[in-house]
Amino acid sequence: MTGKLITLEGMDGAGKSTHIPTIIKILESKDIEVVSTREPGGTPLGEHLRTLLLHEGMHPETETLLMFAARREHIAQVITPALNRGAYVLSDRFTDATYAYQCGAKGVSTAKIEQLERWVQETLQPDLTLLFDVPVEVSIQRLAMARTPDKFERESADFFTRIRNAYLQRAESDPQRIKVIDANQPLIDVANAVQKIIAVL
Ligand code: TMP
Repeated sequence: MTGKLITLEGMDGAGKSTHIPTIIKILESKDIEVVSTREPGGTPLGEHLRTLLLHEGMHPETETLLMFAARREHIAQVITPALNRGAYVLSDRFTDATYAYQCGAKGVSTAKIEQLERWVQETLQPDLTLLFDVPVEVSIQRLAMARTPDKFERESADFFTRIRNAYLQRAESDPQRIKVIDANQPLIDVANAVQKIIAVL
């Protein structure tokens, strides 16, 4: 594999998706093929599962299994072929989200998620993860203004605090891969921080 897997993470409302066009532009200016995708989703089956996952109530372990089912398809159909031909894959969320949401916020055991991660990903891990971090109140405020909330976006402040803490803990334990971006600053400053990281790839 010669390409790179770059993932974007953060709480709902952290604003990560806003920066996708900038990242694509920087990489394409270096003549790199970019495959922009998302989780859950990224394949026809994954998008069906996304609709279920975002709108149906279900047991947290069922949710975890469906996230990894969608991920298995995503890796087989999109990520691995792209990496094999040297493309950079930019995925709006990946497995760190499962650790933050299903484990950190909903209590699914780390051991179970690690097992699924090994099964589904084998040795595949992101080369770089940008973690867009904002205080919980900011995330909630932004969501309230932005759109009709899905199942995850309707959760409590306590739920979002657990997500944020889980993400920050993961960043602390793998600072080489996970770069924390302060997303509670003017958009231009966030974009500059993103650019600095992507430019040296
Ligand atoms: P998005 O709004 O960033 O597209 O993400 C969709 C929702 O799915 C978001 O609330 C986070 C959630 N999610 C999980 O709970 N676990 C996961 O593994 C992934 C990929 C997303």
